[in-house]
Amino acid sequence: MSDKPWGGRFDAPTNAFVEAFNASTHVDARMYAEDIAGSRAHAKMLTQQGILAEDDLAAILKGLNEVEAEIEAGTFEFTIALEDVHMNIEKRLTDKIGDAGKRLHTARSRNDQVTTDTRLYLRKRTNELLARLHTLQTVLIDLAEQHADTIMPGFTHLQTAQPVTLGHHLLAYVEMFERDAARFIDARNRMNQCPLGAAALAGTTFNIDRALTAKELGFDAPTANSLDSVSDRDYIMELLATASICSVHLSRFSEELIMWMSAQFSFVELPDAFCTGSSIMPQKKNPDMPELVRGKAGRIIGGLMSILTTMKSLPLAYNKDMQEDKEAIFDAYDNLEGCLRVFGDMLPDMVVNKPAMHKAASSGFATATDLADALVRAGVPFRDAHEIVGKSVAYCIREAVELHQMPAEACADIDERLSVTMVQALSVESCVAARDHVGGTAPNQVRLQCKSWKKRLNETLESKNA
Ligand code: ARG
Repeated sequence: MSDKPWGGRFDAPTNAFVEAFNASTHVDARMYAEDIAGSRAHAKMLTQQGILAEDDLAAILKGLNEVEAEIEAGTFEFTIALEDVHMNIEKRLTDKIGDAGKRLHTARSRNDQVTTDTRLYLRKRTNELLARLHTLQTVLIDLAEQHADTIMPGFTHLQTAQPVTLGHHLLAYVEMFERDAARFIDARNRMNQCPLGAAALAGTTFNIDRALTAKELGFDAPTANSLDSVSDRDYIMELLATASICSVHLSRFSEELIMWMSAQFSFVELPDAFCTGSSIMPQKKNPDMPELVRGKAGRIIGGLMSILTTMKSLPLAYNKDMQEDKEAIFDAYDNLEGCLRVFGDMLPDMVVNKPAMHKAASSGFATATDLADALVRAGVPFRDAHEIVGKSVAYCIREAVELHQMPAEACADIDERLSVTMVQALSVESCVAARDHVGGTAPNQVRLQCKSWKKRLNETLESKNA
């Protein structure tokens, strides 16, 4: 004998270990509100269609309210014997209201129920992530504005390349997070179709109104194919891919902050509240938060690999393998939200060591390209100019001076077209100021960008939360 809601055709109870192994309550209980919302919508639709009686509906709605209150009060006991959130709630409802509770599952299956719940839950959580991204962007834009003319070295191959402004560097991340937000919005909008009514896989023999449940739950429309409805987990793959990309952006940023906080760079100091010490080395102040955020990218990307691998060979339609879908994305979302929160809270209190940044930008011949450009303006072909400046750099390394300190004779020795006025005009300030075009690093451009970002972010917040 089996005591399960599906136990009719079983002669023996479930193996005790299998019962625990099979259960998903520890993962899906967090979707209780969405499960109850789905049941309310389904019951209302059944009643409107004459499939469920009015007094049954009244009992179901009242009972669901009570169950929800119990869960919120922490008095509800989820049991693995009832496998998942769906059967736990349905059983409790039935215990409370009897036969009306047993009628709720008419024209429905856990297969359409679980994917409806998951879409609703992830829609809510995606909106929360979008709000976090928005806050972080706002913080970065404020910082960028404060540091529109803070000069630091820009790197390629992690070698000093050309001077840039810190504001410009920070705005690069604002761009990345905006693309992340766009991907989240896009995936969220694509998944906003209601699978309810697909039932187990083929639809139902009852005269249901799928448009009604879709509307009631805030979906744009019902899904169009019942098989696809219950077997599609594209939305989880897309959201996890988006979360992975976002975590990669945060990880790159983390890596920079970790380097910048090292004694060798000393570009920034992160607030005490976001660092920890060493249990043995008293002098240590470690950038744990960016390190941990960098590390979180690993598990979030792992979640993406997990869902892709789980889905890759599954025949249509529902397979139990798919129960593994939620753990990966819930974990990824929880962690990504934490990362975004930590960064949004930490960055406003980051102390920027402007002199150290300026000093680093002023050494390493970061102005060399600008000297070549000056020669080009005087009529020297770029390849020749490149060669002349290369020789100048070699001279400076030998003599331990900077380009702008080269004496007139040294210039003339290297090439008659190289003048001392050209080298003396070199400064990191003029290098950044000269790159004054759309997308350039000039302080002027950074200010313009901050202004347009502020306007854009104000305008988009509402549509992001749609
Ligand atoms: N706990 C299941 C899951 O998360 C719910 C759907 C179960 N459906 C079924 N036919 N066993 O996927």
